[in-house]
Amino acid sequence: MNTLIFDTDDKLGEAAANILSGLVQTKPRAVLGLATGGTPVGIYNQVVSDFKRGMFSFREVTTFNLDEYVGLPVDHPESYHSYMRHHLFDHIDLPAAQAYLPDGNASDIAAECRRYDELIDRAGQIDLQLLGLGHNGHIGFNEPAHALIRGTHVVELAEETLQANARYFQSLDEVPKQALTMGVGTILKAKMIVLVVKGADKAAIVQSALQGPITTDCPASLLQTHPHLIVLLDRAAAEKLGGTSP
Ligand code: GLP
Repeated sequence: MNTLIFDTDDKLGEAAANILSGLVQTKPRAVLGLATGGTPVGIYNQVVSDFKRGMFSFREVTTFNLDEYVGLPVDHPESYHSYMRHHLFDHIDLPAAQAYLPDGNASDIAAECRRYDELIDRAGQIDLQLLGLGHNGHIGFNEPAHALIRGTHVVELAEETLQANARYFQSLDEVPKQALTMGVGTILKAKMIVLVVKGADKAAIVQSALQGPITTDCPASLLQTHPHLIVLLDRAAAEKLGGTSP
């Protein structure tokens, strides 16, 4: 595990974007695993500005998003389909047919999960998986559980997750209660994982995830087993880490 700690959001976003942009420059047919949430916004802004400077093209890139709400129309402003269009896809030359997200409105959810896993398998290994971290240690929407599921599956969102995501909706009641998420097995199969976490409110879970026991009660702790994990933190998120050099 390689942990880097940054003084400003801009520097953190730039570092994460450099990893992503650098990969696309050196591997034009890269397969990227993408994340949503507040944390990656600055990273995508930086990637878009690198792209606009003509540094590289996404024409041959394929992307797979981690997750999507169940039952939220794709054009709802808070769907992850909308998020990705707004923050990244509308500003780069990635062909729409190569940008995959799970379909949370599929009539047969089990078939949709199988379809998504098959698409990922067919694309080969994910070269770089970008990840944020939930307050309860979730990655994607893999919530703490007795057992974690390997492939794409439907999840009942934890109360803590509903509360955290309520800020994006008019009220807590409007937050979808279920989501489709890539499984932890698929996430761990990525060649490289870049975990990005910001804020003092995540300091305790960062410490548990990176230095605590490896347990399904904290899905992100399984990342400790990954051979190529890069962790990018701001000072506040890193404040409870002992013995990790910047
Ligand atoms: C969301 C997403 C995760 C994200 C996490 C943290 O619910 N499903 O992929 O990493 O919660 O989000 P944020 O970066 O807004 O704190």
